[in-house]
Amino acid sequence: MKKITKNNEWTAIWREGHTVFIIDQTKLPFHLEIVELRSYISTANAIRDMLLRGAGTIGVAAGYAMAQAFAECRTDNDLKKAKLYIESSRPTAQNLFYATNRVYEEARNAENSEKRAFEAADDVLHEDEKHSRIMGEFGAELIQDGFGILTHCNAGKLAIQGWGSALAPIYVAHEQGKNIFVYVDETRPRLQGAQLTAWELAQEGIPHAIIADNAAGYFMQQKKIDIVFVGADRIACNGDVANKIGTYEKAVLAKENNIPFYVVAPCSTIDCACKSGEFIPIEERSDSEVKSISKSLVANPESDALNPAFDVTPARYISGIITEKGIIKPENIYTLA
Ligand code: MRU
Repeated sequence: MKKITKNNEWTAIWREGHTVFIIDQTKLPFHLEIVELRSYISTANAIRDMLLRGAGTIGVAAGYAMAQAFAECRTDNDLKKAKLYIESSRPTAQNLFYATNRVYEEARNAENSEKRAFEAADDVLHEDEKHSRIMGEFGAELIQDGFGILTHCNAGKLAIQGWGSALAPIYVAHEQGKNIFVYVDETRPRLQGAQLTAWELAQEGIPHAIIADNAAGYFMQQKKIDIVFVGADRIACNGDVANKIGTYEKAVLAKENNIPFYVVAPCSTIDCACKSGEFIPIEERSDSEVKSISKSLVANPESDALNPAFDVTPARYISGIITEKGIIKPENIYTLA
């Protein structure tokens, strides 16, 4: 498949003038298609419809949507309505709210608020790129030659700009010449692991295999997994972490098998207004995602299905949180907020 990208290297999101460009993640791994988003409504809808995914990329898109709103809205009231519209696109990823608030606050009193808004949104993207590399370097120190690594969902370059979050230590370790093997949870129901993480690792030539979500415990018992890296959508003040549904059970299994379990996330994912994980809003998605695979019904049509998109891993299961400021014990995360 041809890599269509800016500067011949693929990137999940960028802007040219007031237009935002994204890879349509719903088409991967079969087609690499770029979508143009020309208004704040189309950018917010792309977040809502999951054309783009992952807390970091959602945050960057939300920042750009807020900047597009500065260009489009005539009154303060319209701008506030636009902000609420963007913020209603998805509830769990803290980076979304971080970005809309940052762009709004930095631009609203600026002399040229439209220009300042786009610059502030660019800053969100560029900081993610920088932080991602730093997190990758901290995390790679934990990876030894010959390690088997488990990851859940997609926390790579599609999900956060630069090198990703949970995949950043893997990219850096691979670059350092370490011999590693990545176990990729398929991540039902939306298959971010099978479709996005596996695609990314294949692009970089990193040895990996997709495993059924139910197989992680088996490979842990077989001593194939030496370390687990996952990303985060929101980190509460006490170190509890919301991430893709299924993360919690991987953390419990890791503890049972004495395997270190690390969360990789920039400080923009920390929400100290959330005292603990029970206050993190968890997105409930359509039951059709559970009952179907690639839009084909695979379940009893008359049955209901339940579809929480995220779960919360309590801090006690987490060996450390890898941020751009260092590797922090979850109970100390509030010091970085
Ligand atoms: O529902 P998604 O695909 O947006 O969920 C993505 C995840 O849960 C990622 O693991 C998470 O955002 C961390 S990576 C920045």
